[in-house]
Amino acid sequence: MSVDTIAINKLMDRFDDHQSVWLFGYGSLIFKADFPFVDRRPALIKNWTRRFWHDHRGTHEAPGRVVTLIPQAGAICEGMAYLITPQVFAHLDYREKNGYLRLSTDITFEDGTSAEGLVYIATEENAAFLGPASELEIAQQIASSAGPSGHNKDYLTELAAALRALGKDDPHVFGIERHLIELQSDR
Ligand code: SIN
Repeated sequence: MSVDTIAINKLMDRFDDHQSVWLFGYGSLIFKADFPFVDRRPALIKNWTRRFWHDHRGTHEAPGRVVTLIPQAGAICEGMAYLITPQVFAHLDYREKNGYLRLSTDITFEDGTSAEGLVYIATEENAAFLGPASELEIAQQIASSAGPSGHNKDYLTELAAALRALGKDDPHVFGIERHLIELQSDR
């Protein structure tokens, strides 16, 4: 399912006249920084949880699953923040066009300081939103899906490896990764 959000994101002009702005990445933006940045720092955002509930890296017949953020009081989502210039928005809007919308958010760094920045989120209003499933079902779906951006399992394993390299835990991501490893060893 494809839902192009480029035009909507262009209307979100809140940071357009800033010299630089922090972008919080929690999915592929952690492990694939294909854009120029001034600085990057491990960071977190509060009251959001990372979930493989969004359709991408699959086909119409066999949708894949990638992460989005779901609001959850008291939750913390850890990832990587990048200091970018607004010139980078066009590239990011294109890259995240399958349903992700820019949202402004508070980003907290490891030293306890924080800054207002932005994050790309695919909400449940979006037609590419798949919603919950068990971690085993998600792993089964990921194991058999691939799309123009690549194999779905590569997205999962690269995200898990990037979180591990940052020393961060995410029971949802690592639980699905464990199921994927079991499924692959059963073959
Ligand atoms: C992100 O990484 O912050 C957004 C979701 C994705 O592109 O995987």
